[in-house]
Amino acid sequence: MDKYIIEGGVRLFGEAEIQSAKNAVLPLLAAAVLTDGQVKIHKCPRIADALNMVAILGELGCKTRFEGDTLCIDSADAANHEIPAALAKELRSSVFLLGSVISRFSRARIAYPGGCDIGLRPVDLHLNGLRRLGVAVSEDGGYIDCSCARLRGTEVLLDFPSVGATENLILAAAKAEGTTVIRNAAKEPEIADLQNFINRMGGKISGAGTAVITVEGVKKLHGAEYTPVSDRIEAGTFLIACAMCGGSIALKNADPVNIASLLHKLREISCKIHAENDKIYIECSRRLSPKIVETSPYPGFPTDLQAQMTALACICEGATVIVENLFETRFKHVPELIRMGADITVRGRSALVRGVPRLHGADVFASDLRGGAALTLAALSAEGRSSVTDLRFIDRGYSAFEYKLRALGARIRRVRV
Ligand code: EPZ
Repeated sequence: MDKYIIEGGVRLFGEAEIQSAKNAVLPLLAAAVLTDGQVKIHKCPRIADALNMVAILGELGCKTRFEGDTLCIDSADAANHEIPAALAKELRSSVFLLGSVISRFSRARIAYPGGCDIGLRPVDLHLNGLRRLGVAVSEDGGYIDCSCARLRGTEVLLDFPSVGATENLILAAAKAEGTTVIRNAAKEPEIADLQNFINRMGGKISGAGTAVITVEGVKKLHGAEYTPVSDRIEAGTFLIACAMCGGSIALKNADPVNIASLLHKLREISCKIHAENDKIYIECSRRLSPKIVETSPYPGFPTDLQAQMTALACICEGATVIVENLFETRFKHVPELIRMGADITVRGRSALVRGVPRLHGADVFASDLRGGAALTLAALSAEGRSSVTDLRFIDRGYSAFEYKLRALGARIRRVRV
């Protein structure tokens, strides 16, 4: 197990390049199973979730190799419909494979997926949607077994705009017989990436980014190359890091449209931000409280930036109410922030954060991906030395996190525990 040792209190200056989006790459990897042609995903980040997904593809019989930062996938010899439990439990996105494995093999078997422990994370919306497409689903002993001789397009109404369920249904419907209309679909930018990639493979999908996505089933999908959208959550994490530490940084390969809700909040607290081409510039010397931060599906404030925003609120002038509407237990970073001197009271899905002038260093422990990033930012801004233990969580979604922060002047190093 690794940990960061951080000497806090250093302002950040310089430029960081944003990686391709973890939550775009993962469904693209699932889509590679839909074709027996060659797929190339350029600028594929070497993050644990992507590497675990690559390992699962290998278990299905796909051949994978990296050529620099291009991941090449050849699924011609894929023949196994069972996703190994040990790997499925490593990440949430294993469940996306249901749609593409059923489409390829007419059946699929998977253990309940893993992922960050931030709530119950049921898969009922995924399974009910697949049933609508004609899939027979049975759940027994922690496994989900699916079979379907022929997927048939139909109308599917999602009770909630679930990102994963929307993506799973797109993957299952891409080669179904007839047309599928997904209503109350999630609108996240990563879903538009999946649509664009499958269309480049010969698919006929439209409406991604809106609440109604139409998938016209095609007989065959051929290989394709694709460069995923940049990671809006990594970009937001670095912007909040600068807001907390002070200084002035530029982010390369960042799209201001995809994080408009965060930019709005950062301007509210008096950060100076401007964007041109694919760069975002931020300068921050004062932090007024944003008063309220409420997470909601895209284009609302992203739940994946809630922990980082909670850390920022700890050192804003005034009080902030944080409301987490997406996940039931996504405040596990709060007790650790309190150990650093934060003044936070949690009641259910709301946290009242009273700003303090500065946090102080402490030995803190990460319990999920974005919470680990939030604790790292808190340590960078705190007075004195901190450690952040169990970097397995951060490694799931951030490539070269400490290197990028060090390049901005942060005093951070990774040590083996
Ligand atoms: C995706 O998770 C992301 N993960 C999450 O990012 C992100 O937080 C989430 O979308 C919301 O934006 C990936 O894309 C790999 P959901 P997902 O289905 O698909 C409920 C990160 O840090 N729900 O949109 O699992 C669910 O419990 C990760 O990068 C059901 O009730 O999220 C939650 O309350 C964390 N039944 C809400 O919907 C279902 O079948 C949103 O979940 C599915 C979901």
